Amino acid sequence: MKIQNLKNNRISDYIKCQINGRVLKSVKTDLPILQNITKMEIFGKFRLSKIRVRGVRCGVRGKKTRNYKRPGDQQQATSNINCLIVIIILIITIMKKLFFLIIMCAFASSIIAQDLPTGGPPPGVQQMQQTPDVFIPLDTKNTSLVLRVNGRDGRLYQSYFGPKLNNIDNLKQTIDAGHLAYATFGTDNLFEPAVRATHNDGNPSLELKYINQSLEKSIGGKSDVTLNRIFLKDPVYPFEVTLNIKTYNDEDVIEQWVEIKHTEKKPVTIFNYASSMLHFDAEKYWLTQFHGDWAEEMKLQESELTAGIKILDTKLGTRAHMYQTPVFMLSLNEKSDENNGQVIAGTLGWSGNFRFLFEVDEKGSLRVISGINPFASEYSLEPGKVFRTPSMIFTYSDQGKGQASRNLHRWAMNYGILDGTGTRMTLLNNWETTGYNFDEKKLSAILDDTKKMGLDVFLLDDGWFANKYPRNNDRAGLGDWQENKAKLPNGLGYLVKEADTKGVKFGIWIEPEMVNPKSELYETHPDWILKLPNRPEHYFRNQLVLDLTNPKVQEFVYNVVDGMLTTNPGIAFIKWDCNRMMTNAYSVYLKDKQSHLYVDYVNSLYGVLERLRQKYPHLPIMLCSGGGGRVDYGALKYFTEFWASDNTDALERIYIQWGYSYFFPAISVCNHITSWGKQSLKFRTDVAMMGKMGYDIEIDKMTENELKFSQNAIANYNRIKDIIYTGDLYRLISPYEENRAVMMYINNEKNRAVLFGYTLNARYGEILNLVKLQGLDPARTYKVQEINVSNEGRRGPGMGPGMSQSGRSYTGDYLMKVGLNVGSNTPLTSVVYEITE
Ligand code: GLA
Repeated sequence: MKIQNLKNNRISDYIKCQINGRVLKSVKTDLPILQNITKMEIFGKFRLSKIRVRGVRCGVRGKKTRNYKRPGDQQQATSNINCLIVIIILIITIMKKLFFLIIMCAFASSIIAQDLPTGGPPPGVQQMQQTPDVFIPLDTKNTSLVLRVNGRDGRLYQSYFGPKLNNIDNLKQTIDAGHLAYATFGTDNLFEPAVRATHNDGNPSLELKYINQSLEKSIGGKSDVTLNRIFLKDPVYPFEVTLNIKTYNDEDVIEQWVEIKHTEKKPVTIFNYASSMLHFDAEKYWLTQFHGDWAEEMKLQESELTAGIKILDTKLGTRAHMYQTPVFMLSLNEKSDENNGQVIAGTLGWSGNFRFLFEVDEKGSLRVISGINPFASEYSLEPGKVFRTPSMIFTYSDQGKGQASRNLHRWAMNYGILDGTGTRMTLLNNWETTGYNFDEKKLSAILDDTKKMGLDVFLLDDGWFANKYPRNNDRAGLGDWQENKAKLPNGLGYLVKEADTKGVKFGIWIEPEMVNPKSELYETHPDWILKLPNRPEHYFRNQLVLDLTNPKVQEFVYNVVDGMLTTNPGIAFIKWDCNRMMTNAYSVYLKDKQSHLYVDYVNSLYGVLERLRQKYPHLPIMLCSGGGGRVDYGALKYFTEFWASDNTDALERIYIQWGYSYFFPAISVCNHITSWGKQSLKFRTDVAMMGKMGYDIEIDKMTENELKFSQNAIANYNRIKDIIYTGDLYRLISPYEENRAVMMYINNEKNRAVLFGYTLNARYGEILNLVKLQGLDPARTYKVQEINVSNEGRRGPGMGPGMSQSGRSYTGDYLMKVGLNVGSNTPLTSVVYEITE
């Protein structure tokens, strides 16, 4: 460590200093730093009683200039009276510290005598030993995250996170900024901790020192993956924390989760248990968040973080979101756009209460703590049991938000969603058209329509079950999963067979975690339901949540699905719904552990899903939660796709799908063509194509032209869907910035692409510039062909066939530098170009 220059020789309270070219903003130091630096100039009359011990930040208070030089330096230390005062004060401070250490040692040994401590030295002793720093580089193809064990105090710090460092030698010469990689509470951390616990003896503090690490290579199998396990331990208490950091080299993605364990005699209460903690030192921080509500998911908002704490969280219990989605993008220094700027994109894989905490401290440093929301969730951890946090998944891009999204998409296809590199079936759903009002005959006709359209699956939605309290609306029957005899006298088996005969597959809707009070399930198992003692039941959509923490309920939910699939092995698709969040948050089963409810509910759900996936590893299941209320990578590893929103108005959908596209690949986003919006069928079709396309529309009411257009569109879709599913996405024009939206997908071989352009609104005389494509190979020649052409909803003046570039060929270079005409002055019109080498 070498302090080359201490700036500012004028009278000042706080003196900035520079170390190896890096200006430290902070003005704090402690004795070990003073002892370790080889050259340091200090200006001012020291008032060392004011020096605060807080990590490695450096600075002094003073009024006049002074020089301080360590022995071994060539230059002579200035010997004046102030220097003498400094030395005296240093000695006094050392003596004070020694006195403190002696007291601490005595205290520690008294604890050792009464209780647990095994192994580790008493607190403070390690701090006196100067062992070399240990560096832990965690690299992906384009990024480096470097952790450092500081030999001075044995703690783990984040030294660096950003673009890939070719080597870390220079890093080794710098003082780290005191950013604890997993900050504890109770000793010297004055900011939000990542972990907090109270020990058996009532001690509310935690200290974590590095023990060792292990490495496992390529455990993912699909690409270059490394799991680093870093073991940390309290030096006094048998309390351990393992940071699991998985680096996905090819995808440039890092996944982190934490395991917490102890062997104290009795349970230890843990209050905070974050999945990750990241630090940034930038001039400014721009946070993009995605919030919403039912039917208005994923609304994008960007704002600058100011000093203090900003929290994005939810407390919905059964689902991660609805009001805030567990995702964020963070731009460093200045706002980033699609292709420029430093961006961190992060998402938590957890289907319950989550929290992202962004804290900008007094020095302008930002810490981001991500994990389960600790709200009302202190957890009593039994000795020997492991508390595993969900995974935080994040990526860094210095080429803007577009690249960050493509990194996450690639990761999700390979690891985040079930069968993410496979294909998906097109479907016809009946929710928007029949609601609860159908019978065998009607369904049989819809099966015919499915076939006629050229779709793969018919998905029977809500309303097919319950007899004592028939499911004819959302007020009854939920929980009674037997076929309704009036609607389906021959059972599901008949429909599955009918579908098979007609040459389509059969899928079905379930909502197994919920119950209507008007149901046989409610009558027979009142203790299986979450409800508060001495309070009236609180309903949402006339229903209550089952207590999934109870193993009997887990068994019930498993059997709803397994029973149905065993009786009807022909069922080829499931839509798993969860139509309410958790209120009445009280579990009879959990007794005195009510604060475990939020965590245990989600883990129990995962337990059931895990079991089902062992038996049905590839059955396509759509994740739904009153629209897009449960979209997160904790759940998606069990699901092939998700229902993005109940709002299927195509104009609204452009914004909703745009929002999801930042974090979730198109293969996972289900979009249905319905009658919600009043746009042309072409417009609605084009919008639904930007993901996993399906229909929920009265086919029998279509005109011949509409039917033909749709059949043709489905054939087009089947030809290009692999590009949309597994290609790279480029968001070219944002609907948040212009009156139009344009995005394109290109396959990995760069020989096939598809572009979607929409005019949302148009002002008189508005000039719509050519749109420059991205991701193509400049040297290749591509043919541009418009597809989904329809007489209905033509794109209007300025974009008639004469203006269209359809059928022409251009080099990739031209298309990326000059661009394509993707404009129309007619609102709510669209164009789809298939681009082929
Ligand atoms: C939720 C879903 C809908 C539909 C209904 C059925 O609201 O989001 O798509 O399945 O439930 O009740």
